[in-house]
Parts: sequence; C-alpha cells; structure tokens
Amino acid sequence: MAVRIRSASDPAAVAEAAGLLRAGELVAMPTETVYGLAADATNARAVAGIFAAKGRPRFNPLIVHVPDAAAAQSIVTFTDEAARLAAAFWPGPLTLVLPRRGDAVIADLVTAGLPTIAIRVPSHPVAQALLQETGRPLAAPSANRSGHVSATTAQHVAADFADAVAMVLDAGPSPVGIESTIVGLAGTPTLLRAGGLARADIEKALGMPLAVPAAGVIAAPGMLASHYAPDAALRLNAKSVMPGEALLAFGEPPPGAVVTVNLSPTRDLREAAANLFAALRALDAEADAIAVMPIPNEGLGEAINDRLQRAAAPRS
Ligand code: TXA
Ligand code: MG
Repeated sequence: MAVRIRSASDPAAVAEAAGLLRAGELVAMPTETVYGLAADATNARAVAGIFAAKGRPRFNPLIVHVPDAAAAQSIVTFTDEAARLAAAFWPGPLTLVLPRRGDAVIADLVTAGLPTIAIRVPSHPVAQALLQETGRPLAAPSANRSGHVSATTAQHVAADFADAVAMVLDAGPSPVGIESTIVGLAGTPTLLRAGGLARADIEKALGMPLAVPAAGVIAAPGMLASHYAPDAALRLNAKSVMPGEALLAFGEPPPGAVVTVNLSPTRDLREAAANLFAALRALDAEADAIAVMPIPNEGLGEAINDRLQRAAAPRS
C-alpha cells in the first residue's frame, strides 16, 4: 500500500495528523532540516513503531521535539550553556543533549536507556503547528530507512516507507536540508554532530570552542561510520571524472560525467546543504559510481563533508 501524502497547507490535514499521533500512529512531518518520522514520545508502543518502520537498532536514541524552551525544561535539566544556546538559536536547527529530568514523561525506549535526552525546538511552521495541535512531545528521527540517505521531500519519505506511516505531511523541500547540529551539554560542551547550524555560530554564542568527541568514541550512538548511504559508490574530492561516473558538482564542473547534479554553481554552502540529499538520491537512481567535487570544510561545509564521508564509507 502506498503512503498517504497530504498537503500541509490544508489545516484539516494538520488536525488529522495530530489526531493520528495522539492515537499512537506514525506521521512524517516537515521540519526546517529534514523530514522527521514522528510519534508521541510519551507512548512506548508508538515509539517502538518508529524503530520497526526504520529498521533502526534499539540502542540508537531519538531526538524529542517540543514547541518551545519552556516545554524543553519540563523534560531536561537546563545548564547555563543550554539557556544561552536556546535563547540564541531556538527555534532552529540545533539539538541539545541534556540530563533527563526524573519526572519527564518520555518513554524509556526514546533514550535507549541513556540518562540524557536529545531535545530540539524546530522552526518549521508546520512542525510548530503539529506540536501545538498534538499537545505531546514528538520523538522523530530523520524519515529514511536506517542507514539510507535522509529525506528532504515528502516523495523521498514515500520512497523509503510503505504502510507503516499513517500520513506524510507535505510542505515541499526542507529549507536547511541537513540535520540539526547536536551539542552535548551534560558535561563539557561538545559537538556531537555537525549540522544545519554552523559550529562557529555556536562557539560565538558560548564564548568558547566546542570539544570534539575523543577518537573512536561514538558520542551520538547513531553516528556509525557508514550512514546516509546511497547504493552507488562515492569517490570524494574528485577533481576530474572517470569513465561511467556521475558527478556531484560544487562550482564549475569538470567535463565527462554521464550525468551531473550541481549542489551550487556559485559555491554557496547553504544552497549546497539544501540540495545535498535530493542530489544523492537523484544520482543514485542514474549511476553506480558518483564522483564528488571538493567542498570547503567551513560553515555548513563541515556538516556536508561529514555526511559525504559517511555516505562513502565501506558498508558493514
Ligand atoms: O534535524 C534533525 O535532527 C532531524 C529532524 C527530524 O529533527 N532528526 C534527526 O534524527 O536527524 P536522527 O534520529 O536521524 O539522528 C539523531 C541523532 C542520532 O545520531 C542519535 O544517536 C543522537 O541523535 N542522539 C539521540 N539522543 C541522544 C543522546 N541522548 N545522547 C547522544 N546522542 C543522541
Ligand atoms: Mg538520521
């Protein structure tokens, strides 16, 4: 059975989606970063449905979405740094990992047994409307099969899932296009995942550099080496194209590709981030090998390169 896609511009669709979530169903929702596969975070059976639908290992915890910082503070204990970052960047593409409050009504499965919870306030108006109407915190991983390329359109979601998802709310392409930046604040402020908010912006607001997890430590349990993986093989930092290769371009492309998608002809990293996952999915449908041009590792380039390295990593 095909997934039901409904336009989020219809208020009746948002109301219906909220009713489905309260009834324990899964709804794919647009956020400013990527589409999320949402469930009521207080309902263990609904949350179990996310793991089943995605084929996601149970040790990999989920991000909890709430409408504002006040709602976040009923679930996690804020630190001074958390207050500062929430004031500066929420709503927006930033997730904070903080100690779970003893009275938090979040299903244990959401956190995979960790004493911390990853929490975020999305800025997308449809995600905000859905959170308000549902009146529950929503657990939502990216709406893709586990290990596959993240979804930035309703059609990407529909391509990855069958009838386990009750509805996809379609609000067009995700504007940021890459997942939220995750900052660990349970100890020394640490960059757990590069994402849609540049590291430099966070460090400026904190007035200090972010630590990086020690080598070999998987700080965010989902950050396995192979992830975001298309079926095609990726060759990174390519300055020319080999016979038979498709090209993921950034700036002026070299000749010879069987098919080219340009992330940003003008070398704009925001535009490149917004186009990344759709470009990977499109090239994957056309070729078995993809050459990827070099992308500077600054601003959103840090997150883009992180995703490309995981997409290129050997598959286990
Ligand atoms: O932009 C986003 O963050 C999207 C949208 C839907 O909000 N969500 C998303 O979720 O990217 P997901 O499940 O694909 O990635 C969440 C990451 C995983 O790597 C997971 O291991 C990590 O967050 N995570 C969740 N809870 C954690 C915790 N308590 N401590 C450390 N890492 C955690
Ligand atoms: Mg994901």
